[in-house]
Amino acid sequence: MIVILGAAGQTGTAALRRLKAMGVPARAMVSRAESEDKVRSAGASEVVIGNLRSAADVRRALAGASRVYHICPVMSDAEIPIGQNVIAAARAERVDHLVFHSLIHAQVDALLHHRDKRVVEGLIIESLVPYTFLQPTMYMQNMLWEWDNITGRGVYRAPYSAAARMSLIDLEDISAVAAKVLTEPGWDGGGFELCSGDNLTREEMAATIGQVLGKPVRAEAYSIDEWRPIGAKTRTPFQVERVATMYAHYDKHGLAGGNARVLAMMLGRTPTTYREFVARVARERGAI
Ligand SMILES: NC(=O)c1ccc[n+]([C@@H]2O[C@H](COP(=O)([O-])OP(=O)(O)OC[C@H]3O[C@@H](n4cnc5c(N)ncnc54)[C@H](OP(=O)(O)O)[C@@H]3O)[C@@H](O)[C@H]2O)c1
Repeated sequence: MIVILGAAGQTGTAALRRLKAMGVPARAMVSRAESEDKVRSAGASEVVIGNLRSAADVRRALAGASRVYHICPVMSDAEIPIGQNVIAAARAERVDHLVFHSLIHAQVDALLHHRDKRVVEGLIIESLVPYTFLQPTMYMQNMLWEWDNITGRGVYRAPYSAAARMSLIDLEDISAVAAKVLTEPGWDGGGFELCSGDNLTREEMAATIGQVLGKPVRAEAYSIDEWRPIGAKTRTPFQVERVATMYAHYDKHGLAGGNARVLAMMLGRTPTTYREFVARVARERGAI
C-alpha cells in the first residue's frame, strides 16, 4: 500500500489524481475530517484522520505501508519532529521506500523552511530507510493566488522585487515524477532537484501571461509590511514570519537555479514550460 501524508494539499491531491489515473490504490492521511471527501474524490482508496505531530497517529497511518510519500504541511513549525515521527513509523513498519517531498536549494540556511527540510533529509539518510528526495523549485501554480488581479486588473503583484529571477516547475510534472518514483523500482537513494529550466522574473512572467491572454499584464512589487496583515488572514504568526523571511530573501537573491535535465530524465520528455502552463490554466479557466 502507498501512503500519502499531508494528502489534502495541492501537492497531495495532484499525486492522488495521478495514482488514481494509473489504477494504483493509495491511503491518504489528513488532519481534519472535512478533508476526507477532498482526498477521496482525488483518488484515495483509504483515509486516515490523524495528527502528524503524534507519533502514534503516524504509526497508525503507516500500518502495513510499503511505500510512503511524506509531504509535510507547508511552513510547519514542526517539520523536524514530524519528520522524526515519519522515520520512526517507517522503520517500525519496515517500509520499502520513503519518498520525501523536500525543496530545491536546501543548502541555503537563510531560507529556514529549506534548512528544516535539509535536516529531515539527513535524518532519513541516517535512518537507513530506503529513500528518494524530491526537491522541487517554486510551483508555477503559485501564480493562481493572483489570478483575479491578473485577469481583472492586469497586475501581477507579489511582496518582492519584480526583477527577482525565479526557477519554476509545473505541479503536474512533479506529480508525474512522484507517481513514477512511488511505483517503479530503481529511484531509491537519490535526491532529485526538480525544475523546468524556466528561470523568469515576474516581469517576464507577466509579459508571458499578457501574450497568452491577449491583453497587457504588468508586474508589481509591494512591501513585506503591507503583505503581513494579508498573510495573517490564513497563516499562523510563525508562518507569517517564515514567509516574510522567504520574501526578503527572494527580494535580494531570487530563487534561480536547478538543472532541468534531471526533470526531463525523470519524465522521459521535455518539462512543461511556463508559457505552456499559462495557456493550459487560461483555457481551463475560460480566460482564452
Ligand atoms: N508551493 C511551492 O511553490 C512549493 C515548492 C516546493 C515545495 N513545496 C512544499 O510542498 C509541501 C506541500 O505543500 P502544499 O501546499 O501542497 O501542502 P499544504 O496545503 O500545506 O497541505 C497541507 C496538508 O497537510 C495536512 N495537515 C496539516 N497539518 C497536519 C497535521 N498536523 N497532521 C496531519 N496532516 C496535516 C492537511 O490536511 P487537513 O487539510 O486535513 O488539515 C493537508 O492535507 C510543503 O512542504 C512545501 O514546503 C511547495
